[in-house]
Amino acid sequence: MQGNILIIGASGQIGIELTMALRTKHGVDRVIPSDIRKPDLELFNEGPFEILNVLDKARLEEVIAEHNITEVYQLAALLSATSEKNPAFAWDLNMNGLFHILDIAKEKKNLKVFWPSSIAAFGPNTPADNTPQYTIMEPSSVYGISKLAGERWCEYYFQKFGVDVRSIRYPGLIGYRSEPGGGTTDYAVDIFYHALDNGKYTSFLSENTMLPMMMMEDAIKATIGIMEAPSESVKIRSSYNLAGVSFTPKELAEEIKKHIPSFEIDYAPDFRQSLADSWPNSIDDSSARQDWGWNHEYDMSKLVSTMITEIRKKKAVSIETSN
Ligand code: SER
Repeated sequence: MQGNILIIGASGQIGIELTMALRTKHGVDRVIPSDIRKPDLELFNEGPFEILNVLDKARLEEVIAEHNITEVYQLAALLSATSEKNPAFAWDLNMNGLFHILDIAKEKKNLKVFWPSSIAAFGPNTPADNTPQYTIMEPSSVYGISKLAGERWCEYYFQKFGVDVRSIRYPGLIGYRSEPGGGTTDYAVDIFYHALDNGKYTSFLSENTMLPMMMMEDAIKATIGIMEAPSESVKIRSSYNLAGVSFTPKELAEEIKKHIPSFEIDYAPDFRQSLADSWPNSIDDSSARQDWGWNHEYDMSKLVSTMITEIRKKKAVSIETSN
């Protein structure tokens, strides 16, 4: 019997989009989104949904058995900014969430696992431009420390126990279907809503803070791509560098002005500036390109025009439905 797919943390920024993409590919019944709460979204009424706390290992085992799960996407985590505010819980969730899945996969044998790492696994001593796959890491944030530790455990479980775990280091992710939450790169999503609502935005990162970013469509393509790759093509079992575009808040604002000429931006950096300053400017992802055929599609102008067009459409629909 064909196995099914479990998404943990399905109501988050990536989870919503991944649920949609995997259902389109495999059908509604084969994809089981789960989260600690069921959000009030039409998407989650259209098919199965499980209330699941990844820290409850017994329940996690039950869900995996009940639904005949053979693939898990473990996306439940606290992001960089929220992790700084609650380090103990961030460590608990980000690490034990991963351990529970890896330990179940170790016993079960036929469970393929996706777990995301991040550019936050790098640190202030990492070469910032075109950051290589293998380099000095030394993350300085709670979130980054959990991601680097997680990467090492993924490789360990692969080497010692043959767990088929696959991972990518996401850059900042930008999409219009789901809201980000608690990240340092989230300015690059918020900015579009402010630009369209009132033509102004105050960035919490300074104007020349360059960070690696990616359109959500590309991130979903990479996520499904690495999971579909033949096992022997996935040569790195810690986590792959992954790149889309890199830009600063100022450059993003300039690109937005091409669509909304009156748009204005100012800058009021807060505690997230030091997180951003410790991360790379740009990423060398040639290993992902070579090993499993990754390529990105969205450059900056396509990313910005897509965000503006799609958010405008969403706003038009909500005005229509409220009339
Ligand atoms: N986008 C994440 C964050 O800002 C980094 O992986 O926390």
